[in-house]
Amino acid sequence: MSILVTGGAGYIGSHTVHALADRGDKVVVLDNLSTGQRSLVGDRADFVEGEVADQGLVGRVIGEHGVDSVIHFAGSIVVPESVTEPLRYYDNNVVASRALLAACVAAGVSRFIFSSTATVFAEDAPQPLAETSPKAPISPYARSKLMMEWMLEDVARAHPMRYAILRYFNVCGADPEGRAGQVSPIPTHLIKRAVLVALGRIPYLDIFGTDFPTPDGTGVRDYIHVADLANAHLLALDALRGGAESTSYNCGYGRGLSVREVVAAVERVIGRALPVREGPRRAGDPPTLIADPSRIKAELGWKPQHADIDAIVASALSWERRFNR
Ligand code: UD1
Repeated sequence: MSILVTGGAGYIGSHTVHALADRGDKVVVLDNLSTGQRSLVGDRADFVEGEVADQGLVGRVIGEHGVDSVIHFAGSIVVPESVTEPLRYYDNNVVASRALLAACVAAGVSRFIFSSTATVFAEDAPQPLAETSPKAPISPYARSKLMMEWMLEDVARAHPMRYAILRYFNVCGADPEGRAGQVSPIPTHLIKRAVLVALGRIPYLDIFGTDFPTPDGTGVRDYIHVADLANAHLLALDALRGGAESTSYNCGYGRGLSVREVVAAVERVIGRALPVREGPRRAGDPPTLIADPSRIKAELGWKPQHADIDAIVASALSWERRFNR
């Protein structure tokens, strides 16, 4: 039995591949390397370069590797890009995922784990967000993710398939052992950008908005270390293998940190002030996004190990030093 990890050469996918390999699971990665890096996977898994949308290829990979479970990370993730190129997002996140599901149904793969996002929830939903909170995605990116959630629910009703949908809050940090980290070609995420400023590769950090209805006026997010998130996938897989019913899990710590609190953490880690520039809000940014992680803790026994924000920043910093010299 092996696990097919699509997008296993990407940020969250590669951490999950390492976590699976660490405990001896057999893994085959399918990645088109459009944004992922072959080197992040190393030799810890079989690697197939190709498209998730290629149903014939996926069918062959499932058959040749004896795949019984799929963890589907592959997709496009940049929100503003999705607004200007919606059809590309629907292609990569919906059309390709449909082909993957079809290949799974045809081959009898009965366990499926899907990467979704906290941005499927309604902006005015009360915080923290439970799995049952109202959904109202705004961007094509978030809509494409919710479409796939629905497709998966419908497929699981009609075929012998069970799934876990993991909705990620703000994923950050890097593998504590230095094997993987964030490699996005367009660095937009707060901690990534703050670290680039700390290393002098960007002159200053923009603080997007200081007039939010939050304690210090800056945006509040639930930052989750990628290693804890990778572990959530392993627990979800084990639960499905043990016969668990299909469900969704919000993946965050239930802790909100403001942009200023993140800046303060970076300053503690580097021991000096971080150059910042306060500016207007970024279009579409909600004031606060915080997870209620009760379900994943209760049902999967998930216990965060890397929540310390200074340790998160330190891991991101050491990855950035090594990866982009
Ligand atoms: C991110 C992801 C989104 C994911 C969501 C889940 C992107 C672009 N966004 O959104 O896919 O679904 O998490 O919660 O991939 N900020 C600054 N300066 C910067 C960068 C960010 O002040 O240079 C602020 C933002 O205004 C926001 C916070 O930092 O308040 C976090 O921003 P970011 O890291 O970009 O993540 P999200 O926009 O929350």
